[in-house]
Amino acid sequence: MRKPYRIAVIPGDGVGPEVTDEALKILARASELFGFSYDTVVYPFGADHYLATHELMPADQLDRFRSMDAILLGAIGDPRLPAGLVERGVIAAMRFGLDLYINLRPIKLYAEHLCPLKGKKPDDVDMVVIRENTEDLYTGMGGHFKKGTPDEVVIANQIFTRKGCERAVRYAFDLARRRGKRKKLTLVDKSNAIEVQQLWRRTVEEASPDYLDVTYDFAYIDAACMWMVKNPEAFDVIVTPNLFGDIITDLGAMVQGGMGVAASGNIHPGRVSLFEPIHGSAPKYKGMNAVSPIAAIAAVSMMLDYIGEEEAAHAVERCIADLLVSRRIPSLDASSGLKTSEIGDMVADGLKRHAGAAKV
Ligand code: IPM
Ligand code: MG
Repeated sequence: MRKPYRIAVIPGDGVGPEVTDEALKILARASELFGFSYDTVVYPFGADHYLATHELMPADQLDRFRSMDAILLGAIGDPRLPAGLVERGVIAAMRFGLDLYINLRPIKLYAEHLCPLKGKKPDDVDMVVIRENTEDLYTGMGGHFKKGTPDEVVIANQIFTRKGCERAVRYAFDLARRRGKRKKLTLVDKSNAIEVQQLWRRTVEEASPDYLDVTYDFAYIDAACMWMVKNPEAFDVIVTPNLFGDIITDLGAMVQGGMGVAASGNIHPGRVSLFEPIHGSAPKYKGMNAVSPIAAIAAVSMMLDYIGEEEAAHAVERCIADLLVSRRIPSLDASSGLKTSEIGDMVADGLKRHAGAAKV
């Protein structure tokens, strides 16, 4: 018997706990069907914990995570707290502290009727965004001077390192090769206006001789947003700095049918990595059992793939696709008429039929 996987679970804020319950339901079902075992350690981090204890995460928490196989997160963020406090103290702290330098965000349309773009089919919307996850304006380097006075000055530094660019670019090239679809890498930047971003272009050019089977091109972020809507079929793998990656993946989530389906992995290859839905904590829906848990369930699929349970991962993804194509789950928002827990049950019940499925 293989050793059980060790999974840290952070349900978090808002709808996080509800969608995490469904994600864990699917993990449990997958372990029965595919014969792996796991232990979970549930952590309370998020707004309630902070309000009760004034602690974001204990000082030794990152070390605890390092002894685990993966972390599953629901959502973090709460309007009772200053904007960004728990997001930075929990999500960003893990991304930076565990050096999770890849933010892997697939954008895949499972069912044509979910796409808001006229005439676009599942084959047209099938890309992966590699968002660099440890640099850029997110490092918080900078500060205030004369805060609150008429002479206030703020500075935020946009940080890029050659190492940070190169590891993201090479990961993206490798992925374009491995996916074997269009075998194309697009760097999305803004190097016409922000000259230092030419480091990204040089990095792509310097790495490209190692990937002669992958073509590459460059797009500015503003134009890339336009093409994402006009010609999503032009994209295969996108690599982009942290902030642009944050923005373009919300756009991508809508193109694939909504925030209710989009999942992500925060990855350091070979080390403990973090999986979460792209959506936020949606406080106004908290406790209503009304939001789609599909994004959190898709995050479980990505996690299973990462820890080496590919067959289970593919079955979960197939099952999601099947429920959406057949319209048994008719939409990804509250208009579906299905409760969060009912959708979780449908995936759990359907999973067995998809054992042995190939990747979607
Ligand atoms: C995301 C989120 C986070 C980000 C927030 C919660 C800090 O929007 O994961 O996309 O900006 O990275
Ligand atoms: Mg975001």
